[in-house]
Amino acid sequence: MGFINENRIRIKLNLKRQYKLMQISDCHVVKSHDDLSVKSELNWLGMKQYFANVHREKYDSTVHSISSISCLNKLIDYCNQESHDLVMLSGDIIDYYSLENYQTLCESLAKFKDKYLFVCGNHENPSNKYKDISILKNPSVQLVDLGEIFVVGVDNSERCFKQDQLDFLMKLSDVKKPIILCMHYPIITEYNQKFFKENYNDYYYIDYKDCDETTEKFIKFICDNDDVKTIFCGHCHGMSGTYFTNEKRLYVCSSGLIGAINEIIIE
Ligand SMILES: [Fe+2]
Repeated sequence: MGFINENRIRIKLNLKRQYKLMQISDCHVVKSHDDLSVKSELNWLGMKQYFANVHREKYDSTVHSISSISCLNKLIDYCNQESHDLVMLSGDIIDYYSLENYQTLCESLAKFKDKYLFVCGNHENPSNKYKDISILKNPSVQLVDLGEIFVVGVDNSERCFKQDQLDFLMKLSDVKKPIILCMHYPIITEYNQKFFKENYNDYYYIDYKDCDETTEKFIKFICDNDDVKTIFCGHCHGMSGTYFTNEKRLYVCSSGLIGAINEIIIE
């Protein structure tokens, strides 16, 4: 078995050309240099095997029990073999903020040949530390215009949505172009709650029934608005594809620590 665990996703939107995106999530990279970083690295070496077992994903100790930074490097090398319209990084790429980890993250991002979108995960909170690697230095909401489609990175690393994010999406939808969302925490609605509640506890998702008012409005907006098409998330360390309305899909990319990567074709 090789290191890479690729999941192919195809989205049909009747576009003039094909758009190729990649998604990487939850690599929990640490630069081992002190007690805390060495401890974190060891913790994830065990945890990745645990998650792979629980979610019945491919795990081969001969290829997967390598350092977190080696995992991220292998994913970057894999992405760089071909060109893509965008690489989405959906959070928890590093395990916690430290100058060493942040520097490692910046060095890694610089290796991508493709354009990338970095969205913070709960392990990267507070997200204002990541301004310099965010589009327009605003980690809260980041817009990538790919021509026929918009990709919007929304920071939900505090397990909620904010008013500026809702305002931004409402305004963007005036343009009438398909919108793809990238965020860390998955959202559960009446359509996918059964799957998530059976497989994960409430640490792993934002529940439409148990959230603040702005978050509830945000979820309602993305469910009802016709331009919002698909959501890509991470956080669960398990791959899934569910429906969050009767026609819109929510995909969760598993952890980069076991080589998980989503290849997304939008056409
Ligand atoms: Fe996370």
